[in-house]
Amino acid sequence: MEAQTGLETIVDRYGGDPTALLQILQEAQEIEGWLPPSTLTRLAALLGLPRARVEGVAGFYSFLHVERAGRYRVLFSDNITDRMAGNLDLLERLCSSLWLERGKTSEDGLVLVDTTSCTGMCDQAPALLVNGRAIPRLTPARIDEIAELIRSRVPLGGWPAGLFLIEDNIRRSDMLLDTVLEPGAAIRAAIKCGAQATLETMKLSKLRGRGGAGFATGLKWEACRNAPGDARYVACNADEGEPGTFKDRVLLSRQADLVFEGMTVCAFVIGAARGLLYLRGEYRHLLAPLQDALARRRAAGLLGADICGQAGFGFDIEIHLGAGAYVCGEESALIESLEGKRGIPRNRPPYPVTHGYLQRPTTVNNVETFCAAALVALRGGDWYAGIGTGQSTGTKILSISGDCAHPGIYEYPFGVTVGRVLEDCGAERTQAVQISGPSGTCIDATEFDRHIAFEDLPTAGAFMIFDETRDIFEVVSNFVHFFAHESCGFCTPCRVGTTLLCNVMDKLQNGKGSQHDLNQIFRLSRLLKSASHCGLGLTACNPLLDTLRRFRPAYERRLESLVFEPAFDLDGALQRARAITGRDDDAAHLRNGG
Ligand SMILES: Cc1cc2nc3c(=O)[nH]c(=O)nc-3n(C[C@H](O)[C@H](O)[C@H](O)COP(=O)(O)O)c2cc1C
Ligand code: SF4
Repeated sequence: MEAQTGLETIVDRYGGDPTALLQILQEAQEIEGWLPPSTLTRLAALLGLPRARVEGVAGFYSFLHVERAGRYRVLFSDNITDRMAGNLDLLERLCSSLWLERGKTSEDGLVLVDTTSCTGMCDQAPALLVNGRAIPRLTPARIDEIAELIRSRVPLGGWPAGLFLIEDNIRRSDMLLDTVLEPGAAIRAAIKCGAQATLETMKLSKLRGRGGAGFATGLKWEACRNAPGDARYVACNADEGEPGTFKDRVLLSRQADLVFEGMTVCAFVIGAARGLLYLRGEYRHLLAPLQDALARRRAAGLLGADICGQAGFGFDIEIHLGAGAYVCGEESALIESLEGKRGIPRNRPPYPVTHGYLQRPTTVNNVETFCAAALVALRGGDWYAGIGTGQSTGTKILSISGDCAHPGIYEYPFGVTVGRVLEDCGAERTQAVQISGPSGTCIDATEFDRHIAFEDLPTAGAFMIFDETRDIFEVVSNFVHFFAHESCGFCTPCRVGTTLLCNVMDKLQNGKGSQHDLNQIFRLSRLLKSASHCGLGLTACNPLLDTLRRFRPAYERRLESLVFEPAFDLDGALQRARAITGRDDDAAHLRNGG
């Protein structure tokens, strides 16, 4: 009964709006630690939605639990940088301390321990999430402390605050991170210029999107401004799920005003009245400070009606929390998720600039893009275009992790060489750098004179370093499993292809691989590249193809033979028969010609 009343209160707070379903489910989960069938039924009735739709959404997101999941849900971040920092040993330590099996809720319903994809804390790995709250810099002592807190059933609110402290680790700053913004200054500059002239400034700056694809921001805003329709939306993509990327986390923590300022300038240019910031669930710790920043801006007349005294310019921003699905970073999946649905990418075209949120024109930009746009509005397109390179203007923030003395956030003008970055962060004997995460590019030591720029090495920000002691095969295997885990399952080539790739990698790992398996990788790659519905499937083979070209020995030393080898150990399976018959001669072994 208490739970039922709780559900009604939550639904009422969202005005019974079905597009808030994902937010409602997350809050409903707080009541019992999971979403029992009765909760889903009740929510469907309260929201006037088919129950199958509510269940479908609840089942899609990895932070929503439709099976009993324990009062404490502990998920260890499992990016390769967490692995390098010993996350699996720490997971085992916690499991054995609590007498648990990984992935299974304890019989008393107290705790579940498992892994999750990269949590965006690679500069302070290894990390875990407990009930969605991040704890970085794990050590055996921290694990023992966490085990004791769980055993003593201390509510999360009573855990020492120091456990949850997340460092910003800014090591090199430039114009974005150095800016001390007078809130409203960029909006006032845009209003003074007018919407059309601000748009021209944006085009003049040659600013390109920082979320990965590098689309020209001015052109995107122009297409949205010119799209037919009465309502327009601004969406900020703060899903930041690419393993190895954490720069948006730091921008949101240090430069929230700059992000909101950029969104408001965009609203002014395109004529939007509503903005949505999609914050990845792993960054839940940023929700309250961001909401405080929004409240401050409302109080200062920088959001709401007649912003900065400009009659008729009304705009406000709300924050939506994601729930653990990498694919929701893809802009059309993000929009689906904002509408309270499963995060399945849409068919494109039409693009979000004409048919986005609620099928209305929507501008989706990355966090860093909005920060840069605010600076362009404030200081001019010419000024901005003078920084960086011809095709890549301005600065880029890199998230540096892996084998280096000083992991963290580094902001450089575009055009910086990889070698310079490696020197600055104290990397030695570097074997490889993975630029822009698993979907990006892996380069070796012969290429460290290459440049971070759209015309050479484009990146959304991840810069993962692997020194000569690392086994590149292990790195790639982690990435391949990541893609299979995060495939949304909508299209068969990606759903099946990424799983088959995992099987090939596991077979090679187990010493059962052959040339046939390497050929199979190329076949699957062609399939994924030609038939996938979205960027996840299209790029899932990138790390394999890059490393097969540059680090082939890492694969070949695992090959059993050049001909086909079954993944199943036939000879091993005959051992019992040999024991029964008392035979162990050559002819009784398959490998010896038996
Ligand atoms: C699987 C996938 C995940 C993505 N994740 C993100 C993300 O976390 N953040 C982001 O800004 N863009 C991400 N993108 C790119 C977005 O689809 C989109 O291009 C971007 O948000 C546009 O903003 P921009 O023009 O400012 O770069 C992703 C794309 C794909 C295919
Ligand atoms: S390519 Fe993969 S992630 Fe993208 S829609 Fe298809 S199944 Fe989903």
